[in-house]
Parts: sequence; C-alpha cells; structure tokens
Amino acid sequence: MAVMPHQDAFEDLARFYDPIMSQVNYDRWLTVCTALAELQPRTPFAHVDIGCGTSVLMKKLVRLGWNTRGVDLSWAMLLAGRKSGPKPVVACADMRALPFARGSCDYLTCLFDSVNFLLDPADLGPTFREAGRILAPHGIYYFDVITSRMVTEYFEGRKWTEKNGRFSTTWEGAFDRKTGVAETAIQVNRNFISVVRERVHSMDEIRAALGDAGLTLLGAFDAETWKVPVKRTLRIDLIAAKEPAADVRRKFKAIEEQLRERME
Ligand SMILES: C[S@@+](CC[C@H](N)C(=O)[O-])C[C@H]1O[C@@H](n2cnc3c(N)ncnc32)[C@H](O)[C@@H]1O
Repeated sequence: MAVMPHQDAFEDLARFYDPIMSQVNYDRWLTVCTALAELQPRTPFAHVDIGCGTSVLMKKLVRLGWNTRGVDLSWAMLLAGRKSGPKPVVACADMRALPFARGSCDYLTCLFDSVNFLLDPADLGPTFREAGRILAPHGIYYFDVITSRMVTEYFEGRKWTEKNGRFSTTWEGAFDRKTGVAETAIQVNRNFISVVRERVHSMDEIRAALGDAGLTLLGAFDAETWKVPVKRTLRIDLIAAKEPAADVRRKFKAIEEQLRERME
C-alpha cells in the first residue's frame, strides 16, 4: 500500500460540497443502489457506503429505512454532512483499512468516483481486499469510476466559473496522461483553492485487483445507459460479488435488463 501523507483535499471545500453538487443526479445512484438490493436474500441487510462524503446517498437510504453506515477519509466531509437532515452512523476511515469485522456486511457501495481518489494502482489491491474481507458470502460491492474520456472531455486544460447560489466556484483542470492523474483546482469566491486529484484506473487494473481480492465481477456498465461501456463512456458502474451463488447471477441478469430499460 502506498503511504501518502494525509492531506484532506476536502478540508476547505467540504462545507460548500452539497451546494456545488446540487445539480448532480444522485437519484440515478439511488435507482441502481435500490435495484441491486434485490440481490439480498433477506432484510434488513447491513449496508456500508464507503467514501460516503457528506452522506447525500445515505440520507436518502435512511429515509427508505435502510440499515446503513458510512466511512470517509475526510472528517470535514463527514461533519459537513451532519449540518442538516438525517444523521446516519459514520466513521472516519480509509477504504484500504475498514473498521468492520470479517463477513459483517452484506452490501457495499463506493460511488461518485471515490475509488479514483486512490492515486496509485497498487492501492486497488488493499481496497478490494478490504471490501472482500468485510463482505459476507454472496455480498455485493457496487462502485463506480470515471474514465479518461470524462477527464479529457470535461476537465483537461479547461477553466470555468460556476454560480452556486450565494457563492461561485472557479475550476481549472489538468491531466497527466502518463500517470493517469487528473488534478482539479477549485476556488470558492476567490478565497481558498482546493486541489483534488483523481487517477483514471484502467479496466484491466480493476479486473486484476478484483480477481486477486477474490471478488467476482458480475458486470461493468456505462453508468448512463447500463449498456457495455464504449469510447464515449464517462463513468462506469461496476458490480462485484463475493462467492456469488447461481441464483445471485440469475437475479443479477434480470436486474441488469430492468435497469437498462429504465435508463433508455
Ligand atoms: C467525490 S467525493 C464522493 C463522496 C460521496 N460518495 C458522494 O457521492 O457525494 C469522494 C470522496 O471519497 C473520499 N475518499 C478519498 N479517498 C478515500 C479513502 N482512501 N478512503 C475513504 N474515503 C476516501 C473523499 O474524502 C470524498 O469524500
């Protein structure tokens, strides 16, 4: 595991995060997340949102009565999420070392690029091994990653300003194509500048690390269409399982088709 000095890229940004992301379609994640919950053999099941940030998704799940907990590396994000709405159980933890017992969780999510915040491909190993360790047999791990197309199309070499209600943000993106690391400088109201770094992981790297962690990839889909990812794909939804039984695979096929229809 690469040891990085812990600098919280979200320290200043956290209190502005929800208004900045107010146009983001969290309901799409909610749709997929609840559809995949059909794979759970019983309710209630134990769900954990890894890299939960300000708990936007978890608050929606709490309202649906889910038994959900969250972890995030950033205290600032966790605290910002407690300013309003439900207050799900959260802890400050790294996705490469999760504070849950072996086999104690049924369903894991890790969404909105959180896996891209691992800047070294070697960190995929511990991350997926930890997911595999805390999942019960037949447990499900739903995560997503951005593609290089997302970075080159919307961030690389671009600078723009957005109005977010009472404040504005200026974004400036750069991309090191050799390392696959994208760097986005985000300035709020001409005050602080936060620099957020994300790495574009290749599907080969992800597949290999999942396999090493003993997780079975059930499917990888263009997040907008739930069809096979293509060159234009900006975000990939990945669904992995621990020791999936035949009926989990069968049910997954049906859910996959339903989601594809809903997203048409
Ligand atoms: C783009 S935000 C997404 C947050 C949340 N999932 C959402 O949908 O709003 C990425 C999050 O990943 C968290 N993160 C980055 N590296 C992490 C790590 N190694 N372990 C746990 N969380 C991490 C960040 O602190 C940040 O809250």
